[in-house]
Amino acid sequence: MAQQKSFSSNLGAIMAAVGSAVGLGNIWRFPYICGKYGGGAFLLVYLCFVFLLGSVLMMSEFVIGRRSQHTPIKAFQTLYPKHKAWGLVGALGIVTSFFILSQYLVISGWTTGYVWHSVSGVLSSLGTDSAAISSFFTEFSTSPWTPVLFLGVFSLIVLIVILGGVQKGIENVSKVLMPLLVLLVLVLCVRSLTLPGAGKGVEYLFSPDFSKLTGEGVLAALGQALFSLSVGMGVMIVYGSYIPAGDNIFKTAMWITGCDTLIAILSGLAIFPAVFSCGFEPTGGPGLVFLVLPNVFNSMGAASVVFASLFFLLLMVAAITSAISLLEALTAWICDHTQIRRWVGAVLFFVLTTALGVMFSMSIGSLSHIKITGLTLFDFVDRLNSIYLPPLCALGTIIFFGWVMPEEDIKDELSNHGTLRLGYYKLLRFMARYVAPLALLVVLISGIIS
Ligand code: PHE
Repeated sequence: MAQQKSFSSNLGAIMAAVGSAVGLGNIWRFPYICGKYGGGAFLLVYLCFVFLLGSVLMMSEFVIGRRSQHTPIKAFQTLYPKHKAWGLVGALGIVTSFFILSQYLVISGWTTGYVWHSVSGVLSSLGTDSAAISSFFTEFSTSPWTPVLFLGVFSLIVLIVILGGVQKGIENVSKVLMPLLVLLVLVLCVRSLTLPGAGKGVEYLFSPDFSKLTGEGVLAALGQALFSLSVGMGVMIVYGSYIPAGDNIFKTAMWITGCDTLIAILSGLAIFPAVFSCGFEPTGGPGLVFLVLPNVFNSMGAASVVFASLFFLLLMVAAITSAISLLEALTAWICDHTQIRRWVGAVLFFVLTTALGVMFSMSIGSLSHIKITGLTLFDFVDRLNSIYLPPLCALGTIIFFGWVMPEEDIKDELSNHGTLRLGYYKLLRFMARYVAPLALLVVLISGIIS
């Protein structure tokens, strides 16, 4: 057994995994992707993917991690030693985590910058002038050095928490600050829903118009479901290996899926009413949250600075707990394969992902002339990270879980060696063997063709 680390309690494990799942994916990414692909219809497809695929994948990653007590590559090889090639699925996960973290740092840097600009009062000085808020965002995100500076600050914080160790660092931070974030999103919902013309936003989110749904939208919903739940990249295999032996994997996965989805929907409720009320377009793209929320805060009068600062700070914390899980997965992986010290591994991946993140960040501004297949570096890696790599890795994982890994091992692990009842097992097995792989295959192929 290479790893003896584990979270200290069931709550700790849940909170840390919720910390990984809840992040920019819910609050920054979900609203803009949902807006881009048509609102309500997208939401429905997204929910199907989350519950039919995402939760099944999460359970399978937890089982693979806890059963093997290893990180992605070795996990597959330990559970099925006959064909070491299954380790390739794990390798794909590691590569995906690496690229996702590099890109994640860019948006986290923006968030960190917005904390600074909220506290210093710059953001509130823009008032509710949508044009001024837009040009502030464009100037900020495309300027050559400012976002890079904040990106660096953010990565450094992540590194420091990682070096603090699994329990102390990840668990304690998650336990306290996640509930606070939810509270603040709720406050935002109330504010947003009471803005004039808010009803249009609610309608946009909840009344599906299927004529707006495209094949690309379906693929994007899948990508978003995987991204938001942190599955399809091996991270939950690593966290699975930290789940205490007595924990109920099914319940843990269900809690995480539920919390993550709730927060995404609440974010939608906080953003879309304001989008319509303030005259923005729901298709505004990656800047959506950074354009709309300052407007909402600045309509809150004297308290705007406090609310904006607190919100961006908590969003930053949510991003930290997600980034931690990615850096933790990479660090744990290299420690599982080499003799290097944990801190050396962490610093190594910190340096590599930060450097790549800086390039992605600059590709939005000063390096925007560099294109791969007609896309800027940032857009290119965004495609890779949302519609190609995670679904592919997810497909490998679910086929392994459904068809390759010995069934007795799965049952033994899910039931904690026969002590828990597995009333859901038949359904899970059916989903894992047929529904999930087929759906992934169809969506992947149609996405690649289109
Ligand atoms: N799920 C995180 C979010 O929603 C992002 C993430 C993806 C974290 C993959 C870890 C692994 O922000």
